[in-house]
Amino acid sequence: MEMHNFICGLPKAELHLHIEGSLEPEMMFALAQRNGVTLPYASVEAVRAAYNFSDLQSFLDLYYAGAAVLQTEQDFYDLTAAYVQRARADNVCHAELFFDPQTHTERGVPMATVFAGIARALRDAREQHGFSSRMILCFLRHLSEEEALATLEAALPLREAYADLWIGVGLDSGEVGNPPEKFSRVFAKAREFGLHAVAHAGEEGPPPYVWGALDALKAERIDHGVRSEEDPELMRRLASDNVPLTVCPLSNLKLRVVKDLREHNLARLLRAGLCVTINSDDPAYFGGYMNNNFLATAEALQLSREELVQIAGNGFVASFASDQQKQAWLSELHEYVSAH
Ligand code: HPA
Ligand code: ZN
Repeated sequence: MEMHNFICGLPKAELHLHIEGSLEPEMMFALAQRNGVTLPYASVEAVRAAYNFSDLQSFLDLYYAGAAVLQTEQDFYDLTAAYVQRARADNVCHAELFFDPQTHTERGVPMATVFAGIARALRDAREQHGFSSRMILCFLRHLSEEEALATLEAALPLREAYADLWIGVGLDSGEVGNPPEKFSRVFAKAREFGLHAVAHAGEEGPPPYVWGALDALKAERIDHGVRSEEDPELMRRLASDNVPLTVCPLSNLKLRVVKDLREHNLARLLRAGLCVTINSDDPAYFGGYMNNNFLATAEALQLSREELVQIAGNGFVASFASDQQKQAWLSELHEYVSAH
């Protein structure tokens, strides 16, 4: 089978996806109109033309501005339903979605509205298509730990109502200058409530940020983590503890973490024995959902068929699904591979 079709058909899990980052310009305009919000752009084309980033912060400025069109439960439903449709088209059967409540609560949108809209879309997708998913609440690291604690406090009363979906906390936004240690107490509290912990680290920040995510936050997965390669001792720790990295190649390219995809270290991280996964991060902003990330990376790094199967399998292994569910997905993956 031709490699392109083989990659597209692989069953996949997506573990690093900011739902606000799946807001396509068309929907941004439609929601702006529905909610009477004025956007600083004349057209959908003008929005896309503005997506020319120099680093993480230049992206975050537009990403937070775009999220201002999200106001009602139906807005969050529509956003999430559109993502699920794109993910299913790429043969994603399980997704763990990040969401940033602080981006919305600070504009007066209630926490409950955010949860309700995302969850209703995910439950509909489960019932209608068997699409599996979870939600991971991210704290914005450019804000204070007190604000993160207040966010966790506001979300905890919703825990029972969303027990089937909300399974963890994460840490995102501007990394440099906001080390993981700043959030030690809020992560400890979240873990006490049985929530999983993940954190963005080693995207723009140096290896000590990855150490901090592991040791201060007890992160079970590292989001990005590509700069771990600069520290051999850290590489040994990630390998021996089998800590997955949720790598986002097109994001790294668009935010200039790498100059050229051919220089991306994903293949080296994989060949060093790390549990590397491929993910789309903010697909509406970075030019591609899962299949585009797999295809572009496979081509740029000349990944073998076996390596691509390994990466797809890692997505299931690194997920927070049950062992039984993971085995079922891995069987499905191996059946696909045998048949193609
Ligand atoms: N890094 C940090 N914060 C983010 C990202 C990212 O890649 N995407 C959305 N928020
Ligand atoms: Zn991210």
